[in-house]
Amino acid sequence: MHKNFKKSNKKYWAGALAKPATEFSLTPLPIISGNIPLGLQGSLYRNGPGRLERGGMRMGHWFDGDGAILAVHFTGEGATATYQYVQTAGYQEEATAGKLIYANYGMTAPGTFWQKCSKSVKNAANTSVLALPDQLLALWEAGQPHTLDLQNLETLGLDDLGSLSKGQAYSAHPKIDYKTGEIFNFGISIGKKTKLNLYKSNKQGKIIKTATIPLSRVSLIHDFVLAGQYLVFFIPPIELNILPVMLGFSSYSDAMQWKPQLGTQILIIDRETLSVASWEEAEPWFQWHFSNGYVSEHGTLTIDLARYDDFQTNQFLKEVATGSTHTPAQSELSRVHLNPQTGKVTAIETILDRNCDFPSVPPENVGQPSRYTYLSISRHGTDISQEILNAIACFDHETNTLTEAELGENCYPSEPIYAREPHNSDQGWIISVVYDGNAHSSEVWIFPSKEMTKPICKLALPQVVPHSFHGTWKAAL
Ligand SMILES: [Fe+2]
Repeated sequence: MHKNFKKSNKKYWAGALAKPATEFSLTPLPIISGNIPLGLQGSLYRNGPGRLERGGMRMGHWFDGDGAILAVHFTGEGATATYQYVQTAGYQEEATAGKLIYANYGMTAPGTFWQKCSKSVKNAANTSVLALPDQLLALWEAGQPHTLDLQNLETLGLDDLGSLSKGQAYSAHPKIDYKTGEIFNFGISIGKKTKLNLYKSNKQGKIIKTATIPLSRVSLIHDFVLAGQYLVFFIPPIELNILPVMLGFSSYSDAMQWKPQLGTQILIIDRETLSVASWEEAEPWFQWHFSNGYVSEHGTLTIDLARYDDFQTNQFLKEVATGSTHTPAQSELSRVHLNPQTGKVTAIETILDRNCDFPSVPPENVGQPSRYTYLSISRHGTDISQEILNAIACFDHETNTLTEAELGENCYPSEPIYAREPHNSDQGWIISVVYDGNAHSSEVWIFPSKEMTKPICKLALPQVVPHSFHGTWKAAL
């Protein structure tokens, strides 16, 4: 760990966010231990905030950081990696000015009243990626995606996917049907009337069908579920107080009001027609992320998610940007049972009573039952008010057992990404980018998906890569 940082009382994770990250062009990665599995051929892409500061000005929330993407290409002869900021118009303007100019999710625009009012929100392009056959999309939930070169990550501009109007939102959690290649996604339009826009795209990423559903409140909808023939939204009991945001007095994050009395809205959409199948109300909770969903043989919907009792998690994630947190936000892996015809919740059960997030299933199981869920969790004994998620694990729904990876003290993994073994559909590898706070370095760790206690290979990255939000695996053809 670097000397000045060690003198502070900050936790080790904060070292990865203390300074803006440095880009690096395609670089061979030395192997630290083990061997790259022979069948692992393709590319890992990850997106997250690369810088939370400019010109001595600190951004207001972890979600405000400028998106930077890591690509790790596995060729069968080794691995190379590159890390590049998404060259959004706002990023380039602020880089030229040497200071922050724009508002964002967790911050108002700097400057006078008129400057605050006149500046729109910067597309941070920092949340996730979608790997299409010929391009990589950098996703951010309040705007259009940016398109990048799959190999060197050069930014090629905004992409309307054949249908999006200027600035129209295309969220960061698209769902892909593995069998058909169809891509489902949504975006929220905030205005006089708030609307949920639904998109169905072909496997090339072009939008081929849209629908618009008026919403009764401006909530925070970050993710949704593809479950059999349905798209399922859980709309949290949050209401945005829009006026102070429009006047530049408040950030979106600060204007999000937690109102448990509103309950969680359950919105179920038919995936073929994109029309409403049912719309109901349930008890209040909050989630950022779903694991998966499916229709059981009895016709009921089963939805797995990382579920919080309230919205304190937003405050915790805001504090992450300062390098020091103090607000506990406990989640658990939960399973919600629903009647798709009525939208009524019939039962909620706890699958795993451990603080967790970023749950996922192998891509071929999206929308279908999955024996395994991969997720990020807090190690036993972790003070969750001061530490970010510091372990990854696999939950086996058949045996009800959790297998945790051994990472060691002060090592922080990214969300586990599943890479399927090409000639064995039953297993694969889990790839995670690990920040080692002891050494102030970043590494790529590869685990066998079925026995992920220890990595079988560690690769050294040339620079520290800050904690990232989401990524994907694109298998070689
Ligand atoms: Fe997310």
